[in-house]
Amino acid sequence: MHSPAPYPAARMRRLRRTRALRDMVQENGLGVGDLIWPVFIRDGEGVEEPIPSLPGVNRLSLDRLLPAAEKALALGIPAICLFPYTAQELRTEDCAEAWNPDNLTNRAIRMLKAELPELMVMTDIALDPYNANGHDGFVVDGQILNDETVDALVQMGLAQAEAGADILGPSDMMDGRIAALRAAMEAAGHRDVAILSYAAKFASGFYGPFRDAVGAGARLVGDKATYQINPANREEALACVARDLAEGADMVMIKPGMPYLDICRAVKDRFQRPTFAYQVSGEYAMLMAAAQNGWLDGEKVMLESLLAFKRAGCDGVLTYFAPRVAAALS
Ligand code: PBG
Repeated sequence: MHSPAPYPAARMRRLRRTRALRDMVQENGLGVGDLIWPVFIRDGEGVEEPIPSLPGVNRLSLDRLLPAAEKALALGIPAICLFPYTAQELRTEDCAEAWNPDNLTNRAIRMLKAELPELMVMTDIALDPYNANGHDGFVVDGQILNDETVDALVQMGLAQAEAGADILGPSDMMDGRIAALRAAMEAAGHRDVAILSYAAKFASGFYGPFRDAVGAGARLVGDKATYQINPANREEALACVARDLAEGADMVMIKPGMPYLDICRAVKDRFQRPTFAYQVSGEYAMLMAAAQNGWLDGEKVMLESLLAFKRAGCDGVLTYFAPRVAAALS
């Protein structure tokens, strides 16, 4: 790095003097094209159901999803990511609803691709919204089965691709799922379906409000530490990213976001591939709670927290703030 001349030849404040100067030398920027909007869906009609731990976020029935998605697209948001709240009676130990071609997610994908073909639709691949016990994989005698789960995830991904999904988001952290999904997509003729792998997904306390939103929180037995990464481990996270890229992931994700910006930077520097962060539910809830109490300026910290991802090397961010950010940037 070039070091500036010593004071007073270099006065760092010289370029901070006016807004125009600051803008001229700004190194990173947040654009609406960087945003992926995670949305919770549920069955029914005319439903916009608030989620208490995620202020401002609702579970939407499909008839309410459509105008919301239309608005997002009009604001310039390129992609939305669907998370289903599954009816209780459809949550079973065999998780069969996950690969039902007519499940809620697959119906939503078909509707969105028919009505708003330019809006990219991303999915979540994991068993937790369909599992009686809240885990991302099959559980037998308290163990999460890896290979059996991967087979089920492939069925789930195939049904989503068949429905028209643009981007698959495996969030389960089983070993070998990217290779299995990629091979299945090739074999089924879905060659252009992209995979955004939740590659560096940590066993985090920041997912709490999400688990409320999909109704998996109260039923979760134990924790996810046998498949998600220990928050203490950086080299292991990088190894997971290397492995997922080698297995055929097109893009990789770091999750959560804000407490893991060092991982974002390391992933971008080392692999130089499309890199995303998920500003997860707990991060959103934290900022919203402080803003609602008047302790922080909500708009300001929203934009600052998202810009930080760009500075850390991310190409884009999944965030519940997406529509608000898009409105603020327009
Ligand atoms: C589950 C999944 C989780 C999130 C996305 N997919 C939760 C978990 O792993 O328990 C969390 C997203 C968020 O907190 O916003 N497969």
